[in-house]
Amino acid sequence: MSDIRLEGVTKRYGTFAAADSVDLSVTQGEFVTILGPSGSGKTTLLSLISGLNRPTAGRIFIGGRDVTNATAQERNIGLVFQSYALFPHMTVLENVLFPLGVRKIGGAEANRLARDALKLVRLDGLEERRPSQLSGGQQQRVALARAIVFKPDILLLDEPLGALDRKLREELQVELKQLQRTLGVTTLLVTHDQEEALSLSDRIMVLDKGRTQQVAAPTEAYLRPANRFVAEFLGIANFVGLPDGGQGLVRPERVRLSANGAANGSGKPAKVVEAIYLGQMVRYHLALEGAQSIVAAVPFLGTAHAPGEQVMVSWDSADIWPVT
Ligand SMILES: Nc1ncnc2c1ncn2[C@@H]1O[C@H](COP(=O)(O)OP(=O)(O)O)[C@@H](O)[C@H]1O
Ligand SMILES: [Mg+2]
Repeated sequence: MSDIRLEGVTKRYGTFAAADSVDLSVTQGEFVTILGPSGSGKTTLLSLISGLNRPTAGRIFIGGRDVTNATAQERNIGLVFQSYALFPHMTVLENVLFPLGVRKIGGAEANRLARDALKLVRLDGLEERRPSQLSGGQQQRVALARAIVFKPDILLLDEPLGALDRKLREELQVELKQLQRTLGVTTLLVTHDQEEALSLSDRIMVLDKGRTQQVAAPTEAYLRPANRFVAEFLGIANFVGLPDGGQGLVRPERVRLSANGAANGSGKPAKVVEAIYLGQMVRYHLALEGAQSIVAAVPFLGTAHAPGEQVMVSWDSADIWPVT
């Protein structure tokens, strides 16, 4: 059974549709990410699901129940936003106790639940601190503890790691994924970061201008995008001509490079324009004959081709995905 279901969900502001006939089914325990550029309607969708906002048209079901007109309180949803939105005058423990108080859970039971939640996000020992005495990553962990402490049916996360620097963001991504798996809670994450979406989710929903572009597993959307927008939004996209006059997508990891004149060298001659060392990989920007540019991502094995060098590039026809 699906845990969250959207049917033709539309939100208009005047004539402008921030969400336009969106359909989505999320199953129990699934981790789905809504991915799209700024202004594509991601926050609008979450606000409709959480009950902070009402759709202009369409229906929303949670656990099979039609909640289209239910209040936020009636939906039992845990919410985390980019801005931590912690209560500054309360301690960490008081912040996490807050949603329990709202639900009339108090005393020893509330204390136990709050301490368990803080332990899950690895903040035990910091119960008496105030938000201002915590780092950004710790504050976001408090927000997460506060969102899960009352055992919500659904967790909605709106760019929860957006304010953190890259390294911390990557650490928290791993923790978030582990936490979600431990709790088994149905989760919808919003992000504009394609790597985050690809690495965390069971499925991603790509949104543009309020409209669904594709709903698919990360590898499926990355290698077999539904259209050009998805192809370009999910990563570097090489487009190559097809015999029928159409265009095909080849991802940089599928492009092979060999030294010019090597015995096994085959493919098209190209000139290295730029070689960008990325640690495990080297990203080459290459110019083919006729000035077509191609990007290749190749594992770094100790040596790299230098700018100006002539090489051969090739790819398997099986690695070309036709795109409209
Ligand atoms: N209350 C509102 N009134 C008018 N337009 C709005 C309102 N809220 C959002 N929008 C517009 O809807 C579009 C989608 O916004 P939003 O859902 O916040 O996008 P995202 O979260 O993907 O960045 C934007 O163009 C935004 O300006
Ligand atoms: Mg937003």
